[in-house]
Amino acid sequence: MPAPSLDAVANLAKRRGFIVQSSEIYGGAAAAYDYGPLGVELKNNLKRLWWEDMTRRYENIVGLDAAIFMHPKVWEASGHVEAFSDLLVECRTCHKRFRAEEVSKDACLACGAKKSFTEPRKFNLMFRTHLGPTEDAGSTVYLRPETAQGIYADAPYIQQVMRLKLPFGIAQIGKAFRNEVTPGNFIFRTVEFEQAEMQFFVRPSEADRWFEHWKEERMRWYHTVLGFPNDTVRFHPHAKKELAHYAKAADDIQYHFPIDWQEIEGVHNRGDWDLSRHAKFSGKDLSFFDEDTKEKVLPWIIETSAGVDRVLLALLTQAYTEETVKEAGAAGRGAGEKRLVLKLPRHLAPVRAAVFPLLSNNDELVAKAQEISRELRQHFVIQYDDAGAIGRRYRRQDEIGTPHCVTVDHVSLEDNTVTVRDRDTLRQDRVRCGDALIACLRTV
Ligand code: GAP
Repeated sequence: MPAPSLDAVANLAKRRGFIVQSSEIYGGAAAAYDYGPLGVELKNNLKRLWWEDMTRRYENIVGLDAAIFMHPKVWEASGHVEAFSDLLVECRTCHKRFRAEEVSKDACLACGAKKSFTEPRKFNLMFRTHLGPTEDAGSTVYLRPETAQGIYADAPYIQQVMRLKLPFGIAQIGKAFRNEVTPGNFIFRTVEFEQAEMQFFVRPSEADRWFEHWKEERMRWYHTVLGFPNDTVRFHPHAKKELAHYAKAADDIQYHFPIDWQEIEGVHNRGDWDLSRHAKFSGKDLSFFDEDTKEKVLPWIIETSAGVDRVLLALLTQAYTEETVKEAGAAGRGAGEKRLVLKLPRHLAPVRAAVFPLLSNNDELVAKAQEISRELRQHFVIQYDDAGAIGRRYRRQDEIGTPHCVTVDHVSLEDNTVTVRDRDTLRQDRVRCGDALIACLRTV
């Protein structure tokens, strides 16, 4: 099947309660999105899988949830005040701004005016605001443009209280904000987004080895945990001129979106940039005592930085499937009938199972289905649905990626079994209620 367009993915996401533009009743806020009831379940599942993979599997990686507001000097030390900017040009006719690298020298992309651009000027991507009642330079604070700096500022504290030895890591998931000049492509580039970052503190002599290690580990995650096929994700090593101001080496992990290959995660060797700058700006010694060499060392940092929203967009794109039903009678479908199904990895699906009474006007079936639904709700996210023909109910669940549909029929009333229909194979099996049903739905 050809890859769906981003518009098709965005339409489905909106129609089915995953993602909608922020403040839509006012015409929508530019480049900001809300995750609806199903979107938040999917996003939470995704973040949980990242968290489990990046913290619980390792005894030397711990978690953090740092504040978004930090001391403004943090952003001077990090280099973001000085260097976190895009080069912009402005059209003298329509006053729209573009990234300098995006415009053709001849004509404005918006109004078509010829040779009307200003010279490129730097535009800082950090959102600035003021803390407290006055709006002077001393009260300036920034919305963090990356979660990483909270980790660096707390690293000496965390190392001490958790008695961590080199190498060790600190992981964090949280919001970041960037005043992007050209946001767009649905949730791909927004001004408010979430990052899942892990900062790994290493001896300088071991940095290259750990950089390679984390590249492989992160690629493994995309393949084995999220199920991305080999030909949909790749590394993109940064050439020298592409490197961010803090990076000694960097590889993007790119996903093959309908709009092209695009970055979903960066793996960076940040050298001693961050800790040496914070040591200088704070006046604190941020070197750690190395138990093995019995020397003080200023660790280097290997960073893995994933964009939660971009990975989620890749997941939706990967899962979006239009297919033709092969066999007549397969769970309420005729042969040749088309269906739209979100083939999300089952452990990520926002709803684990839907429970239906076969007939919505039969009180006994309805009561039994509601009782089963209540029981299953203690273990999984469940939807109960008795509205419309059974085929339509299947269709609704296919479109949100629900792996199992549990139907209560007349046989259920006699022997306490139900039919369980599989989203992908469309097979229906009879399963006994209680432990057997719970075990069946747990299978991913
Ligand atoms: N701490 C390093 C850092 O922030 P980055 O490459 O600038 O590195 C990491 O960002 C990830 O954050 C990107 O790979 C991308 O997935 C996500 N990201 C960055 N800007 C974004 C935006 N405007 N909207 C959505 N996601 C974004």
